[in-house]
Amino acid sequence: MEFTIKTGSPAKLKTGLLVLGAFAGGKLPALTAAADGSAEGRIEALIKRGDLEDKAGSTLLLPDLPGVQAERVLLVSLGKEDEFGDKAWRDALGAAAKALACTPAKDAVIALADIELDKRGLPWRLQQAARILADGAYRFDTLKSDKDKKDKKHRGAKKLALLVTSELTAELDTAVLQGHAVATGMALAKDLGNLPGNLCTPTHLADTAESLGKQYEFDVEVLDRDDMKKLGMGSFLSVARGSHQPPKFIVMHYKGGKAKAKPIVLVGKGITFDTGGISLKPAAEMDEMKYDMCGAASVLGTFKAVAQMGLPINLVGLIPTTENMPGGGATKPGDVVTSMSGQTIEVLNTDAEGRLILCDALTYAERFKPDCVIDIATLTGACVVALGKIPSGLLANDDELAAEILKRGTESGDRAWQLPLWDEYQELLKSNFADMGNIGGRYAGTITAACFLSRFTKDYKWAHLDIAGTAWVSGDAKGATGRPVPLLSAFLIGRAPGAAG
Ligand code: BES
Ligand code: MN
Ligand code: ZN
Repeated sequence: MEFTIKTGSPAKLKTGLLVLGAFAGGKLPALTAAADGSAEGRIEALIKRGDLEDKAGSTLLLPDLPGVQAERVLLVSLGKEDEFGDKAWRDALGAAAKALACTPAKDAVIALADIELDKRGLPWRLQQAARILADGAYRFDTLKSDKDKKDKKHRGAKKLALLVTSELTAELDTAVLQGHAVATGMALAKDLGNLPGNLCTPTHLADTAESLGKQYEFDVEVLDRDDMKKLGMGSFLSVARGSHQPPKFIVMHYKGGKAKAKPIVLVGKGITFDTGGISLKPAAEMDEMKYDMCGAASVLGTFKAVAQMGLPINLVGLIPTTENMPGGGATKPGDVVTSMSGQTIEVLNTDAEGRLILCDALTYAERFKPDCVIDIATLTGACVVALGKIPSGLLANDDELAAEILKRGTESGDRAWQLPLWDEYQELLKSNFADMGNIGGRYAGTITAACFLSRFTKDYKWAHLDIAGTAWVSGDAKGATGRPVPLLSAFLIGRAPGAAG
């Protein structure tokens, strides 16, 4: 996909598809009104007679609009003007993205980013538009036979121009570039998430990290079982015992900032398949546990986005990755293991494995003297029960860091919601035989999981994102979402020296 920003009269543009917004009731934004002037009021008339539904994101395709050079015009509803906001605008862009992904037109001009939106300037609108439109073109068909792929292959507009009424500036170009980079990162995260467990192994994640490092010129180290033994990562290694796939610990160093600037560390859970281990999961929907490496995928995706943007920050990525399998050598309920921090853990449930691999990675993070650490994990089913599939769960040992992440979530449309990490919950983790158990009982499962992690993050500012509900969708549209790459990218863009607000 290729993006440009354009100015000019919408009616005079020669393009395969022109996308215009319109409010329910017939009020037209500037560029739509300009096109309608050339079309002698056809657009307004069509809306007034009810051809375009009110709901934001409804569409109407006009194959031949007189007075307009474009081969086709797609009208997109912005909903009622008095209800217009981020959500309606995003819905309109999402609908445009969907239409663009399957149009026979080769190129398109989209006028939606020009529409004024409360508190959102043009750079924000262009960045978001580029991201949503590029993301809308994502497909995962590498595992389909060619015959099945063929009919869909050639559809979709590849050259997109974002039409605006303001003067073009370097800031606007950067905004589009960043939006596109975030979508590229999301695509990598989705590809890895969608790839099944027999192909997306710990070794595959390590290979992906290494080739990203080569492509964008940052350092990648991959530690193997022996290295981890030497480091004392007994908790992480206890999860890998039942698997025939070798575990890997991936360490990525992106150095875009000043040599002395403290790095931000991202830690991603990389369970490439979670059977539950000896505490075996039920069979229904177990295939979805291939997505248990989506935290790792989001770290890789974010690295790709950051490197493509060339952000002037220092970033470290840590990915503990293994399968969680039952087997003759597997860890058993009741086994006690010693983490890299020296704290001992009674493994009461081998299905609470995410925290067991993350805790050693979090201890490893100390050596970077980080500015802050964010871990990302499909950690608890309880998070999906509590928050559904709309926001990611957020817990943190620092309120300022939490507030910053919440803000970047709203800004990027990839939202999080904070849960408490109060001391009162810590006692649920007590064990009769070790320093702590790895589960906290029936209640507040997302919080007790974070409480467990908090025992390994005392040295630095830390936030935890539970993405069990947001990393993928189930049902007919089953697939990885690429979340929270937009949130993490927005956070890091905001951390770059000189970033606006
Ligand atoms: N990967 C799962 C969490 C999960 C479950 C994500 C369902 C998405 C959907 C995690 O390893 C797990 O199994 N967690 C257990 C923890 C429990 C044993 C304390 C869970 O949530 O049931
Ligand atoms: Mn599990
Ligand atoms: Zn898991």
